[in-house]
Amino acid sequence: MSAHKPIKKAVFPVAGLGTRFLPATKAIPKEMLPIIDRPLIQYAVDEAREAGIEQLIFVTGRGKTAIVEHFDMAFELETTMKDRAKTLEVLEPTRIQPGNLVAVRQQVPLGLGHAIWCARAIVGDEPFAIFLPDELMIGKPGCMKQMVEAYNEVGGNLISVLEVPEEEVSSYGVIDPGARNGSLTEVRGLVEKPKREDAPSNLIISGRYILQPEVMRVLEGQQKGAGGEIQLTDAMARMIGTQPFHAVTFAGRRYDCGSKVGFVEATLALALEREDMADDVRAIMRKLLG
Ligand code: G1P
Repeated sequence: MSAHKPIKKAVFPVAGLGTRFLPATKAIPKEMLPIIDRPLIQYAVDEAREAGIEQLIFVTGRGKTAIVEHFDMAFELETTMKDRAKTLEVLEPTRIQPGNLVAVRQQVPLGLGHAIWCARAIVGDEPFAIFLPDELMIGKPGCMKQMVEAYNEVGGNLISVLEVPEEEVSSYGVIDPGARNGSLTEVRGLVEKPKREDAPSNLIISGRYILQPEVMRVLEGQQKGAGGEIQLTDAMARMIGTQPFHAVTFAGRRYDCGSKVGFVEATLALALEREDMADDVRAIMRKLLG
């Protein structure tokens, strides 16, 4: 047993407009774009459930209801499949216990920090996880499970980090690293989307967080930051020193599915790992590459 309150809730900010994937995302949420046969959001939810998270909190917006439907019971579909003697196993990952899926709305796109703040009433007074579903994290155990294991040791706040080439730091939240102990690094500072020359390191926040509920009160008064948005990174930065703050270097692979090339990379990489298609896909790739 850990001395720290268990992480049972996770917030998934999914209100973004997905403009980078237009026209594909005109009528469907970008989180529903599939990597092979699972929508992107499913990978994040699977990772959450593997880590012992029970309640999923989606911060959605207009046009995003397909995400909620995806995790709801599909009575007609299930009945029809049963009548046709088809196994329902394939739907298992989409089954969320009644009451364990909550959707709140972010009515105006004021930034990631604001999106998280929109979930404050559901999060309540408990530590919670955050998943940015664009970041597809593949590992055994998964990224959040690795983070929960670290949290059980050190408590407080944790973010997953990874190294990127210096020219990419300005697209991310960047940490000022302190002492390192195995996969854990003390976080001394955080800055959102710094200029390359101002970045304290090349260790970026990679879309997974475990935070204490106090962050909601910090967000309440948070001013706009990088890009004119209310930034989660700025609120977290203000908590450093008041509570333990660590970065976890994820042992696994990460695909940036917020970019088209990253999305294709993820699709190819995952296809090559699937027993049911790896050989065929490898043969196709060879052919295409001449
Ligand atoms: C957000 C966070 C940033 C983080 C990134 C990871 O940025 O603000 O700190 O590094 O996600 O993908 P966004 O991609 O929303 O601009």
